[in-house]
Amino acid sequence: MKKRILGLVVILVILFTGRLYAIEGMWIPALLKSLNEDEMQEMGLEITAEDIYSINNSSLKDAIFLFGGGCTAELVSDKGLLLTNHHCGYRSIQSHSTVEHDYLTDGFWAQSFEEELPNPGLTVTRLKRMEEVTGQVLDGVKDNMTESERDQVISKNIEALVNETEKNSEYNASVKPFYHGNQYYMLITQTFKDVRLVGAPPSNIGKFGGDTDNWMWPRHTGDFSVFRIYTDKNNEIAEYTDDNVPFEPDYHLPISLDGVQKGDFTFLMGYPYSTDEYLPSHAIEMITEEINPIRINLRGERLDIMDKYMKKSDKIRIQYSAKYAGVANGWKKWQGENRGIDRLNAIEVKREQEDMFADWMKKTEERQDKYGGLLEAFEKNYQQLTPTMKSFYYFVEAGLGIEIIRFARNFRELVEMSKKDEPDEAKIQAELEGLKNAVEGHFKNYNQQIDREVFAHMMELYLENIPEDRYPQVLKDLKDKYKENTVDYAERVFKKSFLASKEETLDFLNNYKARKYKKIQKDEAAQLAMGFYKHYMNNIMPRRNRINNDLDSLQSLYMKGLMEMQPYKRFYPNANQTLRVHYGKVKGYNPRDAVYYKPYTTLKGVMQKEDRAVYDYVVEDKLKQLYNNENYGRYAADDGEMHVCFIATNHTTGGNSGSGVFNAKGELVGLNFDRNWEGTMSDLMYDPDMCRNITLDIRYCLFIMDKFSGARHLVDEMTIAE
Ligand code: ARG
Ligand code: ASP
Repeated sequence: MKKRILGLVVILVILFTGRLYAIEGMWIPALLKSLNEDEMQEMGLEITAEDIYSINNSSLKDAIFLFGGGCTAELVSDKGLLLTNHHCGYRSIQSHSTVEHDYLTDGFWAQSFEEELPNPGLTVTRLKRMEEVTGQVLDGVKDNMTESERDQVISKNIEALVNETEKNSEYNASVKPFYHGNQYYMLITQTFKDVRLVGAPPSNIGKFGGDTDNWMWPRHTGDFSVFRIYTDKNNEIAEYTDDNVPFEPDYHLPISLDGVQKGDFTFLMGYPYSTDEYLPSHAIEMITEEINPIRINLRGERLDIMDKYMKKSDKIRIQYSAKYAGVANGWKKWQGENRGIDRLNAIEVKREQEDMFADWMKKTEERQDKYGGLLEAFEKNYQQLTPTMKSFYYFVEAGLGIEIIRFARNFRELVEMSKKDEPDEAKIQAELEGLKNAVEGHFKNYNQQIDREVFAHMMELYLENIPEDRYPQVLKDLKDKYKENTVDYAERVFKKSFLASKEETLDFLNNYKARKYKKIQKDEAAQLAMGFYKHYMNNIMPRRNRINNDLDSLQSLYMKGLMEMQPYKRFYPNANQTLRVHYGKVKGYNPRDAVYYKPYTTLKGVMQKEDRAVYDYVVEDKLKQLYNNENYGRYAADDGEMHVCFIATNHTTGGNSGSGVFNAKGELVGLNFDRNWEGTMSDLMYDPDMCRNITLDIRYCLFIMDKFSGARHLVDEMTIAE
């Protein structure tokens, strides 16, 4: 009963007081002026929406970049210097690391432009402007069209729009749906292709606390790394070459050393990846009760195996560090998410919301025509989707969690090309080159013992948990011949497959002729990979896509209905990896009874957490000396202490890592890098009492560069606001 009342209160608040929940949301930069500026200024913002996003003048947004595939970075000097998180630069730092030059452990600082390290494939993209194009995109769409007819019209319209815009432009254009396809925006962007690693602190600073502290407050992680954009001599975008020079932007961010205090307004800008705030109860149920437990369990098992080997050898630790971090990050987040959803009683809250929607709908015939049956259809579709998604996540987490299977899948195309009556030699050659690169990449960070153990264990879990009619046919052998002894089975696959050995694989590719494709087809690992893949293609994907298509239409309609039902509420669109503005206030919280967390941490906490025996909690003598002598220079806070991180109520998600965090004047005061454990459910439901974003205080970042790493020259490149 209590929970029900609580749910009802939350719902009423959501329904009628946009205000109270103002801090919830990730807003569209182009709409900031009309939707948010007043409120932001009321909360403390001292600049204007135009200073943040302008298409005519330089504005903050010109300095904010999508970094690689999924983080945010920002420009802080007139020589193209970029700041992002350590965990965002992690793969680059790792790729330059060896046992002899262990930049992950020791850190890396280029002393000159010449020493900055190129990262093939790494790009950064910024938004030039965005335009609403809903009318153009939906032009020709009729109510009586089927889903696929509708999609066709939309794709054609988008293609035409993009072509037209890109025709006489140096920029790229793309169109993305917002509010579940109720609005469309065109994004005009610019992508830089030569991005070099400039510096990174040692992991015992950049990743201090490791996976133990990940997703947690209080936090003491110096989560930053430094990159630089290069262009050709005319300051134009160019692929990497030796003669490229540092980019000279028109605008870069000013930095404030004043810090922030409890209650201060902050905002941030970045590239949040994806959120799902408008799902019905059935979806939340499926995610938290069915899918998350599967993923948490399968990942936990894999992590245990990796960890065992990583502890034994430095080589393996470096090889697997990025993989481990990636797997661990989701594993931990979903656990927090489940607890948060439970604590918020979110499924019940959503049900109440659906009841209200149903009542509202019944009131007019027009609404009934539009939305009748919607909620029932949700329920039916999620019921059908759930078993399919369970198989899907077994395929993803257990099947593709086995590295040799993922690797072997790369050979699919080669077989297809070679099977043809008249194979295209040129294409085959190109494919072989690509595969050789894949071989190098795969084996550089590969340990067969780990993979073999993971293999045996994942197969075991498959057999245990997925009914026979829902797992790949190829596993029949395992049942029949090996009597479910997965260890023996793994033994055989790794012994027989040439894909288990780098030399044999390269040898095979170097002497490849089209008629040899059968050797791949006969290979044990390749057979498994193709079997898994076929199973996915035939039994999982079509079903999943069909149901998801239906759900997309339903969700789009539901979104429309929710907006119609609450005409005075300001809705923000779910994250979709487009530039957004988030705002809130610096604020502590009560994680549980009798406990209050302050909104900032200091270097003292690093010393308190120190543990020589644990890799993640090592503190170097040099840092201790600086601490003991309070040698903080101009980076000390007013209280004389070295502040490390702070939290605020900004509603962020994955992809916001590296996002610049600003004070009321629009000066950079930190780098966003995480959320708190009690707030990880914010992708599904935001809770203003509990959800906090975690920011690295820019003063700690500069202190580490300057005093700890001797990279004062980089700080001197930046503009410190007086
Ligand atoms: N939780 C943060 C985010 O989602 C940081 C992850 C990287 N750190 C780690 N220990 N795995 O990306
Ligand atoms: N750590 C996340 C990221 O990498 C941010 C978050 O999920 O809060 O984007």
